[in-house]
Parts: sequence; structure tokens; C-alpha cells
Amino acid sequence: MKILGIETSCDETAAAIVEDGRKLISNVVATSMHEHAKYGGIVPEIAARSHIESIIPVIEETMTKARLDWSQLDGIAVTYGAGLGGSLLVGVETAKSLAISKNLPLYPINHVEGHVYANFLTESEDDQYIFPKKQPEFPILALIVSGGHSQLVIFKNHFDYELLGQTSDDAIGEAFDKVGKILALPYPGGPNIEKAAKNGNPEKYKLPKARLDNKYDFSFSGLKTAVLRLAQSEAGKTYTFPSFELAGLLNEAQKADIAASFMHTSIETLVDKTLMAEKEFKPKTVVIAGGVAASPELRRQLTNSLRTNFQYPDFKLCTDNGAMIATLGCYKAMLKQPDIDPLKLGIEPNLSM
Ligand code: KG4
Ligand code: ZN
Repeated sequence: MKILGIETSCDETAAAIVEDGRKLISNVVATSMHEHAKYGGIVPEIAARSHIESIIPVIEETMTKARLDWSQLDGIAVTYGAGLGGSLLVGVETAKSLAISKNLPLYPINHVEGHVYANFLTESEDDQYIFPKKQPEFPILALIVSGGHSQLVIFKNHFDYELLGQTSDDAIGEAFDKVGKILALPYPGGPNIEKAAKNGNPEKYKLPKARLDNKYDFSFSGLKTAVLRLAQSEAGKTYTFPSFELAGLLNEAQKADIAASFMHTSIETLVDKTLMAEKEFKPKTVVIAGGVAASPELRRQLTNSLRTNFQYPDFKLCTDNGAMIATLGCYKAMLKQPDIDPLKLGIEPNLSM
């Protein structure tokens, strides 16, 4: 079973071919991040235009690298939500055209569900990837942490899952990106806060953790505001001072301590809730997924505190990619989930799990 996965929900134009839901045959990602970085965030129009330019070359390169022709594929999987409307449209319309012209079944994929499936990849002929030794076993507790989502989900089986909790405001990756902005670090915040935090003291500042009615829900906007207030007080300014000028008044040590304290508190919040869910639901495997799953601090804290078998994807498969979409597509095809009439597939920017 070989499936082509197409992913264009945000700024990455990505395609991949996966065999039997476990073997990565080829994986190509083109990103327009360098064009967005100077604006401090993703500009939807730039992302959509870049997808239009890149989508065909990316798919062609994926097919060439796999040394397959279209008749050897068993289907196409494409992200149809959640994501930016203009970006999603490019991937979905391309996948629909290909499904019709190559006469292949089309599987619509939920982006967030897709992230979890990066954990099912265990082999490739390409030695640039580090895979888990075996596939995760159900029930699986998944912590999904990206620029758009923070969720805890328990998967009893494929396509049979329960959402335990989610963020009531900012996603964790969004909080990293916004704190990165306060500290005038390059976009995206996640990897740059990680770098800045290396020289900082994570215990220097005590930052708040939100308490919520549903113990598995998350909230990061209070933490982000606490970081802003902290930067203002360290700079000797009040809330009326322009926030984008604050970083210029902080020295490197102050910035490193703020980055380290923020990273420590935000990651500890994720870990606390994952441990609570581990205790209550007794999963066989705990996995992490999404861009923030690339955080070495998150991997370290969970490795140290979980008792259950814990797995995570290769760094390159944490941020958006086509491999995770193709992998979930394989399970849809292998487990006889219905495909969709290409003429009936539309985008769903606000799709939830
Ligand atoms: O999954 P993803 O590529 O896109 C979405 O679906 O949102 O995640 C992007 C997010 C960004 O917010 C970025 O700051 C964060 O992942 N990220 C990280 C790291 N690498 C990327 N956050 C913390 N530590 C990292 N090393
Ligand atoms: Zn994503």
C-alpha cells in the first residue's frame, strides 16, 4: 500500500510517499518561512502564493525520489483542515486534480490527527531519519503541541479517539512565538527561545501556571502576559511602553533568564497534564506530536517522568510535513475507511478533532 501525502495548511509545501503506514519512501518539504520571518509571523497571502509556486515541483521531486510512477500508487491523502484557507486550497485542489487525472482514491486528512501519525513511521532507506524501534501500541496517549494546537488525546484505536483537553486561548507554539517577539528573537520563537534559554537560569523567575475547570485543558495567554510584565519590570518601564522596544533595554543575561524561565514553566505545564492523563488512562504508549514536539526540553522532562513507553518522531517530522499525512492516509486505505469523491472535497480551515 503506497500513498502520496500532500500538506499545505500553513507555510510548508510538503509531499511524501509512505508504504504500509510504516515505511517512509520519499519526503520533500519546501518552506516559505524565510519570506515570513521579517514580518514576525506567517503572512497568509505570501504563504498561499508560495504554495502555488512550489506545489508541482515538490510533488514531482517526491515522485522522482521514490522512483515510482503513478500507476504504482494506491491513493492520495491531503490535508483539508485545519489551517489557513488560501494555503489549504492549493493542496486540496492539486490533490483533487491528481486523483481525477491519475484515477486514484482520495483521502481527506485532519492536519492535527496527521501530526500524531508521524509516530507510526519506523523505517526508511534514507539514513537521515531517526525512528522509534517499533510502532506505538494502543491505547495511545498523544500530546499534540504545535503553533495552532495544544491537545491531549487518548486513541483507543485508529479512528477511535477521545479529546481529553485543549487550549482555551493561545496554543503552546503560539506562546513561544509571542514570547520570542517580546525578546526580539527571530521567528519562529520555539527553536530560538530554546537557543537563548541555554545560557539562562530556569529558576530565576517564578511564572504562573493556569488553573482550569477541566484539568486537561491548557491556557497560555496568562503566562505570555506574565512574561510581558516581567520584561517591562526588568526594563524599568510600565505597560504604556511599546513592547517591541523592550528587548533593546534588556541585557543578554536577562533575556536568557526570561527565555529559560518561560520555557521551563510552559513545558512543565504540558508535562504535569500528560502525567495526570497517564495515571488516569493507563496508556500502553505515550507520544508527542507537532512542532513543539521538537523541543529537547519537552523530550527530556517527559523521558524523566513518564513510566509508560514514550516515543517521539524524528525532529524533521515534528513540524509540518507530507509524511504524517501519507501515513494516516495509509491507515485509512488499509482499514477500508471511505475515500471521497474529489469533486465533493472542500477545505475546512476551522476543523477540530
Ligand atoms: O506543527 P507546526 O510546524 O505547525 C503548526 O501546525 O502549527 O508547529 C510550529 C510551531 C511554532 O510555533 C514553533 O515555534 C514551534 O512549533 N517549534 C518549537 C520548536 N521547534 C518548532 N517549539 C519549541 N521548541 C522547538 N525546538
Ligand atoms: Zn502542524
